[in-house]
This record gives sequence, C-alpha cells and structure tokens, in this order.
Amino acid sequence: MSLTKKILIAIGIILVAIQFIRPARSNNNQASVTDISKVAVFPDSIRVIIQNACYDCHSNNTVYPWYSKIQPVGWLLAGHIKDGRDNLNFSEFGEYSPKKQLSKLDAIATVISEDIMPLPSYKMMHKSARLSTGEKTLLINWAQHATDSLSVK
Ligand code: HEC
Repeated sequence: MSLTKKILIAIGIILVAIQFIRPARSNNNQASVTDISKVAVFPDSIRVIIQNACYDCHSNNTVYPWYSKIQPVGWLLAGHIKDGRDNLNFSEFGEYSPKKQLSKLDAIATVISEDIMPLPSYKMMHKSARLSTGEKTLLINWAQHATDSLSVK
C-alpha cells in the first residue's frame, strides 16, 4: 500500500472515531427566574431579535443545528457557546451584580453598533441573524434605555 493511501485511511479512521466524542448539550427551553425579562424591560420586539440572533450562544436555550452532530464542527460550536455564555448569558442576567448588568447592556450597544456580534461565522450559517439597520437601531436604543429600568438599581 502506498504511503498516501495509508495516510488517507488513517484520516478516515480518525474522522469516524471523533464522531463518538460529543460535547454535552444544554437547552432547558424555559425562562429561568434569573432571565433578563425578570429584571429589565424586555419588550417582545427586542426579545424576538435577541432570541433569533443571540440566544444560541448567550442563553441556556441553544438550538443546536444538525451539523453540530458532525465533529469537529460540534466542538467548535460548543467552544463558541461556552465562551458566549461565560461573557453574557441572558438566562442568568438576573444573577449579575447591578454594576455588571449595566456594563453588559453597555457592551451590547457597543458590539451591535460596531457590528462585532453576532459572530461572522454565525451570520454565514444563519441568514436571519444578519440584523437590518432598523433592528440594530432598536437594539442599541433598548440597551441604552433598559439601564433606566433595571429593578436592582
Ligand atoms: C455564534 C455565537 C454567538 C452569537 C450568535 C452571538 N455571540 Fe456574542 N459573543 C460570543 C462569544 C464567543 C463572545 C466572547 C468572545 C469574544 O469576545 O469574541 C461574545 C461576546 C459578546 C459580548 C461581550 C461581552 C463583554 O462583556 O464584553 C457581547 C455584549 C455580546 N457577545 C453580545 C451579543 C449579542 C447582542 C448578540 C446577538 C445580536 C450576540 N452576541 C450573538 C458568541 C456569540
């Protein structure tokens, strides 16, 4: 057998083997008591946009796409979801200190106005997460004014 053939077979075996190493998933599918809607004004118009464009990485209600079952793609997504939740979790927003809540709302306005979020790779796969100018303006306005409504201040 040629070396190339051996290498190809080895790659094939590795690709099959890694399919069995699956990252844990979590999606509790309900609004927790620490959900952002419990501590800040969270109108439906805003919830729809955020659920659609941010929840997969920034909440405990992730909708996993079919390709997340294919490794190593699934590992990559799991990394984004973990990092995303660690930085900002709309489902656990109520657990943040008042100071942290304010700074996160500030950060939301910044990442939207600077087009940093949603992550480009996510927008590539989710057309509906490509926010229109109108949706961005709505989000930025909300993030700037939701600070007035925080129940914890
Ligand atoms: C594909 C996953 C993904 C999606 C979708 C996504 N984010 Fe993120 N987000 C991340 C990751 C990963 C980080 C942390 C790493 C970084 O800074 O690049 C992050 C960081 C952030 C931060 C920074 C937090 C801080 O304290 O600095 C904010 C704010 C944020 N995202 C808001 C949003 C908003 C708002 C949306 C929806 C419009 C969104 N993200 C969509 C993955 C995502």
